[in-house]
Amino acid sequence: MKIKLLILASLSLLFTACTPGPESPKGFSLPEGDAEAGKLVFVAYQCLACHSLKGLDDSKTESQLPKKVFLGGDVNTTKTYGELVTSIINPSHKIALGYKREGYIDQAGQSRMRNYNDLMTVTELVDLVAFLQPQYNLKPFNRSNYPHYFP
Ligand code: HEC
Repeated sequence: MKIKLLILASLSLLFTACTPGPESPKGFSLPEGDAEAGKLVFVAYQCLACHSLKGLDDSKTESQLPKKVFLGGDVNTTKTYGELVTSIINPSHKIALGYKREGYIDQAGQSRMRNYNDLMTVTELVDLVAFLQPQYNLKPFNRSNYPHYFP
């Protein structure tokens, strides 16, 4: 009897601990976007003033950052839609790895990324994410990627 109670208690603890709070991304889902249209959005909103992306010529846009932030390329974990949308509409939520430094954040520690929330339509955002997501190439980190200290 006691053991049953204990199991029940620990199970309920486990479940309450897993119940997503109101800020959880659970249930978040984007409609299918149009990647071609997203590419036009990327160019039109001048993301290239601060970013570079393989396959797009950014030489004509003057950089607004000390050095442009690369988007796309090899990543160790999947770049999810949730992460990309967040990067665009709430860039300071999580500053991209390596950019929590002068030139990329302001004195209050906020991202210097431009805010598009009052400009971009939801359709444009969805298309933009549909364009950006496949630019990331999942390359799981495996043993041979570790530096070899011993011959
Ligand atoms: C004025 C400069 C500026 C402009 C314009 C800009 N960004 Fe950014 N962006 C940044 C900076 C700085 C960072 C790195 C700090 C951070 O994570 O917010 C960043 C980060 C990002 C990231 C996350 C990168 C990562 O590796 O996690 C994405 C995605 C992104 N931007 C997309 C866009 C898109 C799409 C546009 C155009 C609609 C855009 N940005 C326009 C400055 C800019």
